[in-house]
Amino acid sequence: MSQISVVAIVGSPRKGGNTDLMTDAFLEGARSEGAEVEKIFLDDLHLRPIGPVGDVWEEREDVRADDDCRSVLERMAAADIVVFASPVYWQGVSAQMKMVIDRQSAYYMADWLREGMRGSGFFAITAYGDPENDQSHWVLEPIKHWARSFSARYLGEVAVRAAKWGEVAKQPGVLDEAREKGAAAVREMRGD
Ligand SMILES: Cc1cc2nc3c(=O)[nH]c(=O)nc-3n(C[C@H](O)[C@H](O)[C@H](O)COP(=O)(O)O)c2cc1C
Repeated sequence: MSQISVVAIVGSPRKGGNTDLMTDAFLEGARSEGAEVEKIFLDDLHLRPIGPVGDVWEEREDVRADDDCRSVLERMAAADIVVFASPVYWQGVSAQMKMVIDRQSAYYMADWLREGMRGSGFFAITAYGDPENDQSHWVLEPIKHWARSFSARYLGEVAVRAAKWGEVAKQPGVLDEAREKGAAAVREMRGD
């Protein structure tokens, strides 16, 4: 495979927050292996929830196609590795990320989306604040399921308990782990 491309979609609205910092570290690791990287901060974009879609998948239309969502989906489909980075928000991914994954249902049978995603590597990054229970599964399980739906490869995750803004930077080893996993993900997709 030629140069590996990585697109990370960050679903937290906190710049310099935990998922954002871990994403930067992951992308730094990927870049160190020669990958071309892009980070998309969803909260900067104009995105809306999916509108009404018909029951016949082949005939579906995105009735809200005038916002930024299609461009995000196209960049995801074109990448070799897609990083889904979202905090746990009320036992799920953030609304910013949920909007994007829902919106792909308007393009469900489109070749550019299905063929673009097939065989891609999916990686998950999450943070959760609960001091007592590991809540990461609320984000990781859906992303693993999305990988199966798209016939993509689930490459792994970085999941940490951290509540305060940017706290992961002070936790020993977290950003190093994200950096190492970014480099490893690129090597894996390249078949090294
Ligand atoms: C709207 C909202 C919902 C949250 N829901 C949960 C939750 O269900 N479980 C949990 O463990 N933490 C929850 N948290 C805490 C965040 O997951 C935690 O603060 C995380 O570090 C935020 O990541 P960020 O810095 O990348 O935004 C919630 C925070 C917010 C603002």
